[in-house]
Amino acid sequence: MATIRSRVLSGIQPTGRLHVGNYLGALKNFVTLQTDHDCLFMVADLHALTESYNTKEKTAEIIDIIASYLAAGLNPKKCTLFLQSFVPAHAELAWILNTVTPMGELERMTQYKDKSARQPGNANVGLFTYPTLMAADILLYNGNLVPVGDDQTQHLELTRTVAKKFNTRYGAVFTVPMPLYTSVPRLMSLTDPNRKMSKSEPTGCLFLDDEPAIIKKKIARAVTDSGTGDKNEVAAGVANLFLLLDAFSTPKVAAEFRAKQQSGTIRYSELKETLANDICVGLEDFQKKFLHLRSRPRAMLTTLRNGSKNAEKIALHTMKKVRQAIGLPSR
Ligand code: ADP
Ligand code: TRP
Repeated sequence: MATIRSRVLSGIQPTGRLHVGNYLGALKNFVTLQTDHDCLFMVADLHALTESYNTKEKTAEIIDIIASYLAAGLNPKKCTLFLQSFVPAHAELAWILNTVTPMGELERMTQYKDKSARQPGNANVGLFTYPTLMAADILLYNGNLVPVGDDQTQHLELTRTVAKKFNTRYGAVFTVPMPLYTSVPRLMSLTDPNRKMSKSEPTGCLFLDDEPAIIKKKIARAVTDSGTGDKNEVAAGVANLFLLLDAFSTPKVAAEFRAKQQSGTIRYSELKETLANDICVGLEDFQKKFLHLRSRPRAMLTTLRNGSKNAEKIALHTMKKVRQAIGLPSR
């Protein structure tokens, strides 16, 4: 008997360079999932329009995300890779979902509050309804699993609320999705381990395309001492370096440093040197492929166009069911 594979949907916004947090929290999981799940991964360009940007750079940013997907090991023969704006049904369903989403639910979203405070000159309505568009992205494909970092938890909760509301009001159309986290759902900044690693704070952020000398410099400067003076508490900065060690070094090396840490004989300069070397080696293959792929922009857009045709077939099928459920005539 054929087994039904779970449907996986996720996406990343084309808003700049990807970092190791994006990789360990999301992208690495995409690559694992493609082997035994029915996966769709998109470049979320409509979401990216909610932030101020340079129109001359947006297409190149889109190309960098698809090049990163491929360089990390996503294979268009195993999963569907597409561009959100190439499938107009995303915007269409987002509008319909807006009509079942309570204002209060969106007003509670912390990302909306943070971003509208950070860009006061551009606190646009798109920023406010961003989570409804994200719900549409997921529900269009009846995704049951959504691999993301834990900063997206609230948006996933909103998606679940909206799916249930719609199903209650109009009949069971949507699958209610679950988030899927890796063992690193929130990598912290190297310079401020109480905040998540983010491109908005570049000195504490390891970008996937950082050169080895830069990686070494950033790791060397990483904060280790919490300043609490409590020897029993592993400082947040140290815990963060151990997360990186688990991801990039061998289990043996990580275990050796853990043992030294517990016995109080650890030298952080030694840990950092080993870690920086292992990260450089670990990113080498990605970096080589990424540079090659991003130098072929036409091929990158073709990959997105082809994948989008496949995504659109599924999306149109869902929209047919949605129109029927809400009482609109079929096209
Ligand atoms: P950023 O916050 O740097 O702008 P994005 O919002 O583009 O990153 O995130 C893309 C994906 O990477 C999302 O699934 C997000 O949850 C995940 N992610 C972002 N930052 C981190 C982090 N520091 N640790 C783990 N996952 C992260
Ligand atoms: N909001 C996500 C982020 O900032 C990106 C995203 C858009 C997404 N649509 C999605 C993630 C659908 C998962 C599923 O990272």
